[in-house]
Amino acid sequence: MSEREAMIAELAEKGIRVAVEAEELLINDQTGTLVQRMLLLDKPFITKEDVESLLKPPEIPKAEIIRPSSFSPSAKEHPPDIKVNHTLDVTGKSRTKGEVDNFIAHFRNRFERISRMLRRSNAVPTVDLADVRKHLNEKVRVIVFISEKRDTKKGNLLFEVEDFTGTFKIVVSQSRFNDKIMDKAKAVLLDDIVAITGKVLEPYIIAEDIEWPDIPVIREKKQVEADVAVAYLSDLHFGSRHFLSKPLKSFSDWLHGRGEARELAGKVKYICIAGDIADGIGIYPNQEKDLVVKDIYQQYKMFDDFMETLPDYIEVIAAPGNHDAVRRGEPQPALAKDMISSDITLVGNPSCVAVEGVKHLIYHATSMDSMIASIPHASYMHPEKVMVEYLKRRHLSPIYGGNLIIPENVDYMVIEEPPDVFHSGHVHKNGYTQYRGTLVINSGTFQDQTDYQVKQGHIPTPALVPVYEMKSGRLHTLDFKS
Ligand SMILES: [Fe+2]
Ligand SMILES: [Fe+2]
Repeated sequence: MSEREAMIAELAEKGIRVAVEAEELLINDQTGTLVQRMLLLDKPFITKEDVESLLKPPEIPKAEIIRPSSFSPSAKEHPPDIKVNHTLDVTGKSRTKGEVDNFIAHFRNRFERISRMLRRSNAVPTVDLADVRKHLNEKVRVIVFISEKRDTKKGNLLFEVEDFTGTFKIVVSQSRFNDKIMDKAKAVLLDDIVAITGKVLEPYIIAEDIEWPDIPVIREKKQVEADVAVAYLSDLHFGSRHFLSKPLKSFSDWLHGRGEARELAGKVKYICIAGDIADGIGIYPNQEKDLVVKDIYQQYKMFDDFMETLPDYIEVIAAPGNHDAVRRGEPQPALAKDMISSDITLVGNPSCVAVEGVKHLIYHATSMDSMIASIPHASYMHPEKVMVEYLKRRHLSPIYGGNLIIPENVDYMVIEEPPDVFHSGHVHKNGYTQYRGTLVINSGTFQDQTDYQVKQGHIPTPALVPVYEMKSGRLHTLDFKS
């Protein structure tokens, strides 16, 4: 007797009879929880209709399309301009077997590319670690991987570092220099690639300065002529019992010219989504308790239904997150067409997409958890500050082991091009800042506070949608909660 047949026998034992047609549905149930839910129904006789009603996903209310005559969206007439930078996207290019050679190639690639960024002209010569001892009592600059970091008994910090030529120890002294170097040293993460300048006093280098590759302060920025806007979404979590369908419908209604700020609504030509489209299945223990839709295909069907409610001239770009139906390790390839059938631009996580020539870096930001745990003063309250830390490091997942990394021979998590807009999600908290000419956006969520978040004391900011006017450079936040 199969496990399911045993469950049906269990129902019978409890005095619950099952119609023959219903029995078949129960035995074929893919969600794995129907029989348990039947018990909860507390009915003496279960019909086919009872089972079907439980199988049916809750319907997303269709947007009522109310387009007053005075609403003439300017974005409608504007031709779309989206260019995905495929060389920086893992989609269709994953070749790794997860073997030692792949890890070596991965870290070599990361080190070569980031150290190139750090190899700027400097008054102090940059030397390989193998040559440091030739410069006793002199100042040197080294570009290194941080392989270990610890406090010493005297209250100093000790780094063990490496490059392709060797290893060395670097001391950051508490008393010798000002607080600035110590503050910088505390912010250094394991596996960070940094340039350290200091005096060689064998067997150490005594650090005087630490530099991250960072993004340039001055760079050319694309001026957008068209008066169009981008709305940023993330963490919709279709299928979750905390998913906020009504506020999402209000957002869709707004795009159709219903509500306030209609002129802005009419400018929205693009919607950019930074992952966690669906809530997924089996993402964390006992997740089924938090799901109203336990079928992954149905979760994406809900998303497709939502896409149907949008004005047809709006272009949607969507990357996956850690809850979505692609591999969990990063970089993640784009969601497949058998999951999402809407005619939208599906990209990987991370990905680089030029929208009207404005370079967007889209990264769900799963590694934000390990970043927040490791960087002093970083918090879930200010995801935008953590996003600046990614830009400084030119890397989206600097701490190895902090979250799942797939060792591709090319490290797709390196921030190769400084973006004009950097868009993330994951922490369900809106946050914005400007950093060295990059507009940093965390677009929050459409999922209400979960039980887990209540326990963590994490207060999300659901249904707040950032909208960026590309011509004027103005960023707005629209509230669809109320
Ligand atoms: Fe999420
Ligand atoms: Fe997430």
